[in-house]
Amino acid sequence: MQTQVLALNPDDPDEDILRKAAMILNQGGLVGIPTETVYGLAANIFNESAVAKIYTVKGRPGNNPLIVHVHSVKQAKSLVLNWNESSQKLAEAFWPGPFTMVLDKKNLVPDCVTAGASSVALRIPKLFVTRKLIEAAGVPLAAPSANLSSAISPTTASHVLKDLEGRIEMILDAGPASGGIESTVLDVRSNPPTLLRPGLITVEMIEKIIGPIKQFEQQHLHGGAFPSPGMLARHYAPETPVIAVQDSGVEMLEKLKKEGLKVRLLGFQIMEGAVCLPNDPVGYATALYAALHDLDEMGLDRIVIALPPDTPEWLAIRDRLSRAAFMH
Ligand code: TXA
Ligand code: MG
Repeated sequence: MQTQVLALNPDDPDEDILRKAAMILNQGGLVGIPTETVYGLAANIFNESAVAKIYTVKGRPGNNPLIVHVHSVKQAKSLVLNWNESSQKLAEAFWPGPFTMVLDKKNLVPDCVTAGASSVALRIPKLFVTRKLIEAAGVPLAAPSANLSSAISPTTASHVLKDLEGRIEMILDAGPASGGIESTVLDVRSNPPTLLRPGLITVEMIEKIIGPIKQFEQQHLHGGAFPSPGMLARHYAPETPVIAVQDSGVEMLEKLKKEGLKVRLLGFQIMEGAVCLPNDPVGYATALYAALHDLDEMGLDRIVIALPPDTPEWLAIRDRLSRAAFMH
């Protein structure tokens, strides 16, 4: 299969291209789509064989449910039971945006989308072109990140092409994703709601809207039952072994170099052998995955990552970095 890559203006998308992409989706094909967080691999939620293809193409474990993307609160409500005051307030505060709510699903949401769960994860993407595409398709779109399972998420169309060329019909290229890391996932069925995946919508922002929430315990990541099956410990990882350190990373960099290893540092310092990322969580998120993709292409023996401080505003970044470094 030839994968067509079509460029689109994210704010003023060409209608013909949207129609073409919608037609592929309606016929049961897969399309790599831009969103403001990371690129997604989209399928029509009502087409069982298309949804099954998402799992095959990504090599995704069958017990890991997919996020469903909708264009409006009305469309979201049409898929769930028990839409309550909290869901309404959260939707008003954070939709469209990088925020996903887990709610009880209606029967019309196929079990293949939710990996058999009675809940469904929903979000309205902020990027205009993504919402226009969902409207053009006329159906909600299941879309996990458009990478091979447990690899680094894609923030550009060429990252998607690198993993999925020849395996999907089309990729829509609307330029680099501005957010850079996957959406925050909150289970609003529990009381209080439970944070399943930290993201750019922070705990503090959520608590301002609905009061205290529970945070999913990190130690559960290394064994036991997963409240969210996607929270596999090793995830978002480059092929190159990653060593995460709590200091500047310079010492580790020098040590490994002395051992004769080819190594680079991802940190906060401008120096030879290092990639320097912004010292604020939002800027860091935007740049992180592209930096990891680039480092991973350099044929290194190790990537050393200087972890940002263990403070609430860096929670989502530290979560992704600790998974990238797992097992090394
Ligand atoms: O920003 C994002 O969320 C991107 C873009 C494409 O929208 N999507 C994304 O999807 O990151 P994915 O499949 O890579 O991550 C979905 C996460 C997984 O951790 C999954 O386990 C969890 O959401 N999830 C999905 N449905 C769930 C459900 N019913 N209950 C609990 N967790 C769920
Ligand atoms: Mg993913």
